[in-house]
Amino acid sequence: MPTDDQQIPSAAQGPELFTWEFATDPYPAYAWLRENSPVHRTTLPSGVDAWLVTRYADAKQALADQRLSKNPAHHDEPAHARSKTGIPGERGANLMTHLLNIDPPDHTRLRRLVSKAFTPRRVAEFAPRVQELTDALIDAFVEKGEADLIHEFAFPLPIYAICDLLGVPREDQDDFRDWAGMMIRHGGGPRGGVARSVKKMRGYLAELIHRKRLDPGDDLISGLIRASDHGEHLTENEAAAMAFILLFAGFETTVNLIGNGMYALLTHPEQRERLQRALEEGDTALLETGVEELLRFDGPVELATWRFATEALTVGGQDIAAGDPVLVVLAAADRDPARFDDPDTLDLSRRDNQHLGYGHGIHYCLGAPLARLEGQTALATLLRRLPDLQLAVDPADLRWRGGLIMRGLRTLPVEFAAAQ
Ligand code: HEM
Repeated sequence: MPTDDQQIPSAAQGPELFTWEFATDPYPAYAWLRENSPVHRTTLPSGVDAWLVTRYADAKQALADQRLSKNPAHHDEPAHARSKTGIPGERGANLMTHLLNIDPPDHTRLRRLVSKAFTPRRVAEFAPRVQELTDALIDAFVEKGEADLIHEFAFPLPIYAICDLLGVPREDQDDFRDWAGMMIRHGGGPRGGVARSVKKMRGYLAELIHRKRLDPGDDLISGLIRASDHGEHLTENEAAAMAFILLFAGFETTVNLIGNGMYALLTHPEQRERLQRALEEGDTALLETGVEELLRFDGPVELATWRFATEALTVGGQDIAAGDPVLVVLAAADRDPARFDDPDTLDLSRRDNQHLGYGHGIHYCLGAPLARLEGQTALATLLRRLPDLQLAVDPADLRWRGGLIMRGLRTLPVEFAAAQ
């Protein structure tokens, strides 16, 4: 006979995670976890057990803790379960030996090399090109009076931007757009199409690196080759993996910065009007703090990428065994009332805003300057050129992607007065 205790669901079990309601609005569940079970053991939809870290202070500590490795070899799961984490095995090894899957000293060497080629100067020089791309995408739908901002705007902008930066010739960029589209659409679903797209991308990148070695230009891939030819070792596989991680890490994240950010502005009209007024007056300070606030409020990376305990350790008072996977929930940490005043309020002028949207520690987002440039240009240009932009559907009818790491909308239908 079950006792009463067994019949009543225990509060310690916590809210249901990874349901449709959770994908739509995970923040109430994260508030519960922060409060009641801040380092929470859960079974992920893939069947893998992992710890979720939801408080800001614990999250920051975990992101910087060298005992939490990025190398999937430390995962204490049988090989068959490993594939369920989405962590690529041997077959994907060529492209997967990248910054987000490795620890020092390899991480230090590769990060130094790419930092040399991915300088703030290069990103700053890129501003006119990002503006030109942004305007061209808006030109393509401005006469219709309506658009899906995800497919017609947020999706193509970062892919063309990264291709340009890497040195992928313009005539090949639509192929990249199709491969990336396949990866985003089926990210958590059927693997076949994704595997084919990754394979095509790998073949293309290998050939491109070979060509750039013979005929270098003023692009990132040529810069990587130059850096490696000047004494520091970078194999062709590592160069291809680097190009791949720049595409992979810089693509869906930026789509969601633009998508989630615009959605937040459209559903907080008083904040949006403030920003629009500031932009009309030529004041860009609110745009700068505003994009940081949009990242904190509803950032693209809901959970940081996988980490694995290399030894037994304690996070937030919870013992974690060697081999256990740990997922740091950036979205929960960034709404922690112990760190942020009124964390559930969107305040574009928020000052004390050390959010974790770009991570923390040695894996801190390498592309943050480019992401800021793209996010600021995209949102400001939309508001300037389409001042009466409105959602074309009820917010309740919008669908969020149910992926594990990323948070973003499937579509963002909007309407505005068509240009004549
Ligand atoms: C790492 C967020 C855009 C390249 C990261 C991490 C986060 C992040 C949270 C750390 C992950 C972890 O520790 O597990 C974002 C957000 C973006 C964005 C929110 C857009 C708004 C970009 C762009 C690029 C990029 C545009 C490059 C073109 C990278 C790379 C890493 C990284 C290479 C790995 C760095 C390392 O391991 O040393 N990003 N990212 N990201 N990001 Fe971004």
